Amino acid sequence: MPVKTLRDKIVVITGAASGIGRAAALAFAKRGAHIVAADLNAGALEPLGRGVTALGVRFRPFTVDVADEKAMKEFSAAVTADGAVPDVLINNAGIGYMGAFLDSDLAHWRRVLAVNVMGVVHGCYFFVPGMIAAGGPRHVLNVASAAGNFPVPSLAAYSTSKAGVKSFSEVLRMELRDTEVSVTTVCPGIIDTPIVSFSGTNAAPTVSAERVAKLQAYYKTKGCSPDVVAEDMVRASLDGRDMLLTGPSAKFGYYLTRLSPRLTRAATIRIAQESGYL
Ligand SMILES: NC(=O)c1ccc[n+]([C@@H]2O[C@H](COP(=O)([O-])OP(=O)(O)OC[C@H]3O[C@@H](n4cnc5c(N)ncnc54)[C@H](O)[C@@H]3O)[C@@H](O)[C@H]2O)c1
Repeated sequence: MPVKTLRDKIVVITGAASGIGRAAALAFAKRGAHIVAADLNAGALEPLGRGVTALGVRFRPFTVDVADEKAMKEFSAAVTADGAVPDVLINNAGIGYMGAFLDSDLAHWRRVLAVNVMGVVHGCYFFVPGMIAAGGPRHVLNVASAAGNFPVPSLAAYSTSKAGVKSFSEVLRMELRDTEVSVTTVCPGIIDTPIVSFSGTNAAPTVSAERVAKLQAYYKTKGCSPDVVAEDMVRASLDGRDMLLTGPSAKFGYYLTRLSPRLTRAATIRIAQESGYL
């Protein structure tokens, strides 16, 4: 069930140090919610903490790898130890990898699935039972991607992981139907964040720096600010919608897939060529 107000509610956000997670922390804090922020990047949580507390709410930072089952169990236990149960849980942490399937190693598949799928699974597994037991309307936002609706060339593992989040969230929604906990699948489109800084282990050796620069320029010009997603996530936590399609090309792509898979494929290839994914 969606929450009725965000004032004095507890919002847990993973991947809160950057991009969409950071914007979400500030957007929910502006509505009076207290923020529990988890990220691998402890350093970047510090300035976020100053921004959040300046809005007059509490901030608790945690350094956590969402892919690590034990760490996520401990994180949940630490958050709830003093009776604080999330009113809103945002499983947002995620990573990208760019490269053609056959040009890429297999190690990145394990990493992308571990963070993007198991990170969301861990968040739900360790927090949702407490949310149900505490009673009252509570809401989960699982961050998938438009790429989970229409997969993108050069993003095989990423697209697969996001389709997994979408599918998992649908199952969870059905299984929680008799509880007060509702679930939104968040599918952002093109959002201008550091996630497209593909290099090192996040890109195949055949991906040139020029292609990455082209892609980043594309996200800057065609993408939107993560604040747009954050504001839409605030609305979704209050109206409890099943699916949030937010940012450029998210809605267009979703409805095109329903109209014609063939047209969707042609449009996706064209956009991938224009942006630098192909
Ligand atoms: N930017 C986009 O265009 C876009 C589009 C669709 C979906 N998304 C999704 O939105 C979410 C946020 O992405 P973003 O664009 O804000 O990226 P980002 O890189 O700006 O932020 C991701 C954050 O997650 C953290 N993180 C990464 N791995 C982690 C781990 N194992 N444990 C804990 N924290 C970890 C990073 O340190 C970073 O702070 C991701 O799930 C991403 O897949 C982004």
